Amino acid sequence: MNVYDAERMADTLAPQGFVSVAAAEDADLVVLNTCHIREKAAEKVYSELGRLRVLKEAAAAEGRKVIVAVAGCVAQAEGADMVRRAPVVDIVVGPQSYHRLPELVAAAAIRPGVVDTALKAEDKFDRLVPPGREQIARRGSSAFVTIQEGCSRFCTYCVVPSTRGGEVSRPVDKVVAEVERLAAAGVREITVLGQNVNAYRGEGPDGRPWKLPRLLARLAEVPGIARLRYATSHPRAMSAELIAAHRELPQLMPYLHLPAQSGSDRILDAMNRRHTRDLYLQRLAEVRAARPDIALSSDFIVGFPGESDQDFADTMDLVERVGFASAYSFKYSPRPGTPAASMDGQVPEAVKSERLTALQAVLESQQRAFNLASVGRTVEVLFEKPGRLPGQIVGKSPHMQAVHVQAGAEMIGQIKAVRLVAVGSHSLFGEFADAVPQPIAV
Ligand code: 5AD
Ligand code: SF4
Repeated sequence: MNVYDAERMADTLAPQGFVSVAAAEDADLVVLNTCHIREKAAEKVYSELGRLRVLKEAAAAEGRKVIVAVAGCVAQAEGADMVRRAPVVDIVVGPQSYHRLPELVAAAAIRPGVVDTALKAEDKFDRLVPPGREQIARRGSSAFVTIQEGCSRFCTYCVVPSTRGGEVSRPVDKVVAEVERLAAAGVREITVLGQNVNAYRGEGPDGRPWKLPRLLARLAEVPGIARLRYATSHPRAMSAELIAAHRELPQLMPYLHLPAQSGSDRILDAMNRRHTRDLYLQRLAEVRAARPDIALSSDFIVGFPGESDQDFADTMDLVERVGFASAYSFKYSPRPGTPAASMDGQVPEAVKSERLTALQAVLESQQRAFNLASVGRTVEVLFEKPGRLPGQIVGKSPHMQAVHVQAGAEMIGQIKAVRLVAVGSHSLFGEFADAVPQPIAV
């Protein structure tokens, strides 16, 4: 979502004459788009601001003015405190106010220290400038579209409900128009985004709320769109219709990111997840019945307050039972203002580290096993960009695996059948399935 937001900020500043530059040293305006989900991410902002202070002073010595803006959830959470703690900051702008960036930049040029962290009801999406055709093409064949923002679930560890506000879904017409625009400029794959995306309930053209499966079916009709994905989902909102869409909608890719967070009912309860381990396993069994080749992914938190060795063993057991194609895992990070931060039984850092290492070792081996099992198969790859080595391009399989092929850049943006021949550390290597073996010259 932060990638999407950053793109929309750049689009909104473009009519004012701003263009993106590769290095901060060359910029007149630097926007840090920030994440508040864990302490480590939030702390990075201040070290980055230290670097920007040096850069700003160096520019000032040459008579050049640089404006520094902090956007995103750290900006939302800290507001005016940010300017006090880091006077280098000229603008603090929360996620619901990006559309006001041009005004804020103009105001900061006269009087630095502008703060806009209102969680307004007005639709910022209506006021954000859409990207031009060339800009879309430059960003590639796979695009994100935010369809839902905020979260009304209140997991006890999570800052999202306070930084992004309650759940709001964008109307169907607006989403369809954005996808049509992207498709017309060559985009082939859309990932619709929301903090709680499978709870999507946007107003349909008929005035009634549409749920995610109906929206996905509508987006599948947009000419040029070959692939659809969605992220991130909650187990409670994994409806029978959405599971059926994995069977019925060919454009919906066989990949599901469904965060479990823990395999222990006691911890899930303390997290206020409002699902049990059985419900989670049951939903995955249903998804697998609908789409047997589906690749499963998840998020896990280790060291939540009160997590015992047995609770952690339950998480390891859940992981062993499912067999994930990929997964993200984190040490519990106490966040200001969340209920879990003041719970008894905070887990020592050393225990968190030990558990994370053990969990990640299993998840890594599962990912490797999943990739190894793909070798020998022929899959469709959407090529996205040049690979790391010269003469190579890289794309994604339907299962979200990165696939490298020896080919020219002219193939980027195309979907081709590729035979997977080998695994790398976190990716696969393939050959075009229709490639004719070259006769050897004698
Ligand atoms: N500590 C650690 N991980 C967290 N996440 C959310 N809040 C926290 C926290 N306080 C993780 C969850 C979520 C992912 C985006 O970040 O696993 O699914
Ligand atoms: Fe945070 Fe996700 Fe829970 Fe919402 S559902 S509170 S975004 S972890």
